[in-house]
Amino acid sequence: MSENHVLAPMYTVRIASRIRLYLLGMVLKTSILVEAKNISKKYHRGSETIMALGDVSLTISKGELLAIVGPSGSGKTTLTHIIGGLSTPDTGMVVVEGRELKKQSDKLLSAYRNSEVGFIFQNFGLVPSYSAIENVMIPLVVANLSAKQRYDKAKESLVLVGLQKRMHQRADELSGGEQQRVSIARALVNAPKIIIADEPTGSLDSARGEEIMKILEDLAHKQGISVLMVTHDMGLAARADRIIHIRDGRIEKESHANN
Ligand SMILES: Nc1ncnc2c1ncn2[C@@H]1O[C@H](COP(=O)(O)OP(=O)(O)O)[C@@H](O)[C@H]1O
Ligand SMILES: [Mg+2]
Repeated sequence: MSENHVLAPMYTVRIASRIRLYLLGMVLKTSILVEAKNISKKYHRGSETIMALGDVSLTISKGELLAIVGPSGSGKTTLTHIIGGLSTPDTGMVVVEGRELKKQSDKLLSAYRNSEVGFIFQNFGLVPSYSAIENVMIPLVVANLSAKQRYDKAKESLVLVGLQKRMHQRADELSGGEQQRVSIARALVNAPKIIIADEPTGSLDSARGEEIMKILEDLAHKQGISVLMVTHDMGLAARADRIIHIRDGRIEKESHANN
């Protein structure tokens, strides 16, 4: 028997396994939205240097609900700002769907912040004298839309969070839970790929916090939007797909809550 008869099947097997590895790589790659690599960030206060983050690496998948927990001052907010393009790391990089944020022009970076990321804060961050719908329309100012299109989009977003009935109410006349729902509607209005929520239930009682948590869960698991949520509440964190524990600017451990 010639050698070729033996080599041919082996060759086929090798090619097949290469193809399989390649396809697996594609699947894994396309499911990752954000990759933060070796991020560090220092702040200077007078003569003091504060190491807010030291060598943090993490990935966020599409449609993943990722919780960040850790003591006050451990670097959680700094990390969300860096991932959201609000501040730049001293070392390391943030890559979003293959684009390194630091290498983007100011214009692209502000487009990223405005339309790919939706921010939600503990204290809602609404303009108190504006109505709910006026607040939700704010991120649409830079979009090339007519007044009617802006209004319709904002209304659609308020319907999603169940607030259409109160859309003309001033923000400062709404309850805390309602204000946070307005801020979620505002975060959603540009159809973002990721919602970054920094202690979104921190100013709410547990029933109102539960409503907000349910919305965030649905955004991730039903709409496929990635959600990065900082929380102090371990009960809420336990409902995330993954929990990253941060201490003194470093990842202390990572746990999988649902399995
Ligand atoms: N703008 C800033 N200037 C100086 N120090 C800061 C600034 N922002 C945060 N820090 C410090 O960096 C550390 C991490 O802060 P932060 O990311 O806000 O933590 P966390 O959100 O976990 O409470 C803290 O020691 C904080 O005091
Ligand atoms: Mg914080």
